[in-house]
Amino acid sequence: MKHLVTIQDLSIHEIDDILKEAQKLALTSTPRESENILIANLFLEPSTRTRFSFEAAERNLGFHVLNVDEASSSMTKGETLYDTIRTLEEIGAEAVVIRHHQDRYFDELLGKISIPIINAGDGCGNHPTQSLLDMMTIQQEFIVTQGLNVVVAGDIRHSRVAASNAELLEKMGANVYYSGPREWIPEHCKKRYLTMDEACSTADVMMMLRIQHERHVDGMNMSKEEYHRRFGLTLDRECRMKRHSIIMHPAPVNRGVELADELVECSRSRIFKQMKNGVFVRMAVLNWALDRIKEESTYGIAAEK
Ligand code: CP
Repeated sequence: MKHLVTIQDLSIHEIDDILKEAQKLALTSTPRESENILIANLFLEPSTRTRFSFEAAERNLGFHVLNVDEASSSMTKGETLYDTIRTLEEIGAEAVVIRHHQDRYFDELLGKISIPIINAGDGCGNHPTQSLLDMMTIQQEFIVTQGLNVVVAGDIRHSRVAASNAELLEKMGANVYYSGPREWIPEHCKKRYLTMDEACSTADVMMMLRIQHERHVDGMNMSKEEYHRRFGLTLDRECRMKRHSIIMHPAPVNRGVELADELVECSRSRIFKQMKNGVFVRMAVLNWALDRIKEESTYGIAAEK
């Protein structure tokens, strides 16, 4: 069974195919032909963009959608994640999209579930569809990702977006650098550290991150104003960016903290473009997952014959 739980699940060839398909879908959204497909969405952590862009993607493809509401589901009675997914599978879901607060929640499901799991974000772990939509946005700006300088700035340690993006960007040949408070820079990223001032003159893509307060054990030891001044993309720093450089952010944005309010929709910003691309990438990912099931069942039938 092909799942998409981390970027490692995709070969370069599959990444290229998904991104090409997403670009095609951006020009003309094509429903899948004559199939009565049911997809389940299970969001056990808040989400606006990922949840609703998956739902929009499913509806654009002509699928039926089951949105599982945790508060009114039997998970409140102690039903496990595994039993919940097995139930959705028996009810007829052909794929399940899951967001979960726990890192690698999917480890307990892999090998036991026979429908594709599409990871919509696990704790501080992975967010593979975010990194694909970010790559689509980058490719709309830069023909070649090989050698592109991408600075990921902010709360790297607690960011699943940073982790998946670094993996995908490196796979595609980009140079990935990190910036932000040193205590939030994981050990393996320290040799690629830049101050925010260095970052601004280096980056072709400046990828800003929100402070993930919900994952911090200790509170933040500085005010929002101090954070903005020391680690944020201020108006002054934006003036020192290269002419062609763009600003990205997975959102939600804390305006005036990691990014000056005025920069959220400035001419360099691709933040709302990222959100739009999210629908097309998620359509392409759903098609990819369902095509893999078709291939597996065709191969199975052929093997039986
Ligand atoms: N970028 C992102 O994952 O946003 P949501 O948490 O709103 O889904």
